[in-house]
Amino acid sequence: MEIINNVKGTHDIFGEETNAYDYVESMMKSIAELYAFNGVRPPVLESDKVFSRGVGESSDIVRKEMYTFPDKGGRMLTLRPEFTAGIMRMVVQNKLYATNELPLKLYYCGPVFRYERPQLGRYRQFNQFGVESIGNNSPINDVEVIVLAYTILCSLGLEGVKIKLNTLGDEKSRDNYRSALREYFARHIDNMCEDCKQRYELNPLRILDCKVKEDQEIVKGAPKINNYLSDESKAIFIQVKDALDVLEIPYEIDDGLVRGLDYYSETVFEFHYVSKAGVDYGAVGAGGHYGKLMKELGGPELPGVGFSFGIERIVSVLKDDGGLKDIKQELDAYVMPLSEEALLYAQEVAILLRNSGGYRVDVCFDKTKLANMFKRAANKNAKFAIIIGEDEINKDSVILKDLAKQEQKEVKVDDLINKLDEHFDKEEE
Ligand code: HAM
Repeated sequence: MEIINNVKGTHDIFGEETNAYDYVESMMKSIAELYAFNGVRPPVLESDKVFSRGVGESSDIVRKEMYTFPDKGGRMLTLRPEFTAGIMRMVVQNKLYATNELPLKLYYCGPVFRYERPQLGRYRQFNQFGVESIGNNSPINDVEVIVLAYTILCSLGLEGVKIKLNTLGDEKSRDNYRSALREYFARHIDNMCEDCKQRYELNPLRILDCKVKEDQEIVKGAPKINNYLSDESKAIFIQVKDALDVLEIPYEIDDGLVRGLDYYSETVFEFHYVSKAGVDYGAVGAGGHYGKLMKELGGPELPGVGFSFGIERIVSVLKDDGGLKDIKQELDAYVMPLSEEALLYAQEVAILLRNSGGYRVDVCFDKTKLANMFKRAANKNAKFAIIIGEDEINKDSVILKDLAKQEQKEVKVDDLINKLDEHFDKEEE
């Protein structure tokens, strides 16, 4: 029978890699919780309108990358290409903003889907972890979110993360900037790619993200947003930069950073990382402030700010940099039944240790040589071996072997948890 492979752009996560994802995600969650964010789980499937209205018709994501299809009832559905618009739909529909304290601080984690060309760090199904802080307009709120993202990356051991920072200004600033871009690109657009021709009509800001080499040369000469900022937007950006300076968060201004999603206004940022071996992973995370997204989705006009990390990229970076060495799964004990008859007794002992002792225990199910079982115990990083032969069954006991010290003794099953507790308590002292 023919083997069925995974879909292009998706990847299986198993073995040690599962531990790496668990480690990264739980570190992200626990730090977000320190910052008083609460977890939410929006559905993977949304109405396509959530993203066409939310992320914007001129973005590459909506124009080219969404998995959108009619379901059997004829509804147009989309597999979420990002979280932010879906979170905002959730907040509006459930009136989560109607609380006596804003900002509403939410975090999330899960798969997202984009029909992109697969390459290093780029998948069609990948995982994001992110936060949204909704309903407060203070520039210091933007700063709290940037500090959280930076803290997470540092806690994971990524040294030398580059925070790229820019502002897209308010609507007035962007309208003026778009006019300036149209004027500039009018002279070049006939020689640019077909995509850029469409972008020129829909939103010339998107041309700045074009990946075609020849077009990038033209983009280099384009006007910069900072010459078109309103006084209000200039003042907001100064506050953001000053606060980051006070908090000693390093950043660099990138006046070409415009982000590919249409909902942004004012502050935008990306987190870039080059591994110790020199591999440039590009942005391991990114985000920014959005002013009108909630209104676009039928809610009140409340602003928000958030970021999302690409978990695949962060796991790859940690693998490259050797940052995953300490997260090997360990077993407290590996139970070794010496005969077919000892298998059920071994299960009873293992269940007792797991359920009453809280120990991580595995049992060898194969009929194999004792030497082989010890090799397996070592591979599983087991601290103890528990050996069970006929004698032990008859005496309600086991042989408990400390694998580090290579010392063993007979222990009554009733006393086994005590003996392990004594050992692990001593280890903790
Ligand atoms: P984004 O820049 O589209 O922003 O994605 C965030 C991160 O997801 C990127 O920095 C990258 O690490 C990762 N990523 C993007 N595409 C891929 C891919 N094809 N394969 C693997 N990783 C990828 C957002 O999604 C916004 N929702 C961020 C945000 C939250 N803005 C405000 N709040």
